[in-house]
Amino acid sequence: MKLIKVKDYQEMSSVASNYISNQVRKHNPFTLGLATGGTPKKTYELLIDDHKNNGTSYSHVTTFNLDEYIGLTKEDSNSYHYYMKHALFKYIDINPKNIFIPDGLSENIEQECAEYEQKIRTYGGVNLQLLGIGANGHIGFNEPGTPFSSQTHVVELTPSTRTANARYFNSIKHVPTHAITMGIASIMASKEILLLVSGEEKSQALKHLLSDEAPTENFPASILRKHPCVTIIADIDALKDL
Ligand code: GLP
Repeated sequence: MKLIKVKDYQEMSSVASNYISNQVRKHNPFTLGLATGGTPKKTYELLIDDHKNNGTSYSHVTTFNLDEYIGLTKEDSNSYHYYMKHALFKYIDINPKNIFIPDGLSENIEQECAEYEQKIRTYGGVNLQLLGIGANGHIGFNEPGTPFSSQTHVVELTPSTRTANARYFNSIKHVPTHAITMGIASIMASKEILLLVSGEEKSQALKHLLSDEAPTENFPASILRKHPCVTIIADIDALKDL
C-alpha cells in the first residue's frame, strides 16, 4: 500500500480529485467506484470545479456506488442516491444510464444484490474504487465479521455505525437498520483502490490498517494489505497515532 501524507482535509481532497480526474482523462471507457459519507464530499466538489474549469468529461465513465440504505426512497435526503446526485452527478456530464447505485427499495433484495454484482462484471469490473473507512474498520457497509469472500449483500448496521451516521438524520431512530453493500470480495476485485482518511477519529483505524499483522475479518479494511494497488491519502490528524 502506498501512503500519501497530506496536511489536512482540503489537501487530501485536492490530491484525491487530481488523482481521479487524471485517470478519467486517460482511460476510455472507465469504470469508477464511488463512496459516500463525509470524507469524499470535498473531493467531489473539486471534481465538479475541474469539470467546469478544465473540461474533464465523464461521458465515457460508468460509476458503481458501494452501498445504499434499505428503506429510503431515492428522493430522501439521507439516501445515497440523493447524496450522489447533489454532491456530484447533477453537475457533471455523466450519462444517467451509466450510474449504478444499489436499490434499497427493491422488492427482491437478494436478487438486487446478485444483479448488482453481475452488472459490475458486465462492465469489466471497477477500474478505480474510491473508499472511506469507518472507525471500526468498515469499508462500504462491511462491518467487522463480514467474510472476506462476500459479494454484494444485505447487512445489519452495527450500533456504532448507526450512531456515527446519525448526525445526518433527525435522530438515531431514523437511521435505517439495514443496507445493501458491495462485499469485501467485490471491493478487492477492483483494479485499483484509493482510500481517503481524514481526522483524529480515524487515527486508530489507520494505525490498525498500516500494521503488518495478518488481515482479520474483525477489521474489514485489513484485507486491503493484500490488494496489489492501494493508495491511501491521509491527513496529519489521521496520522497522529502512527
Ligand atoms: C459510512 C459509509 C462508508 C464510509 C464510512 C465513513 O457508513 N457507508 O462508505 O466510507 O461510513 O464515513 P465518513 O466518511 O462520513 O467518516
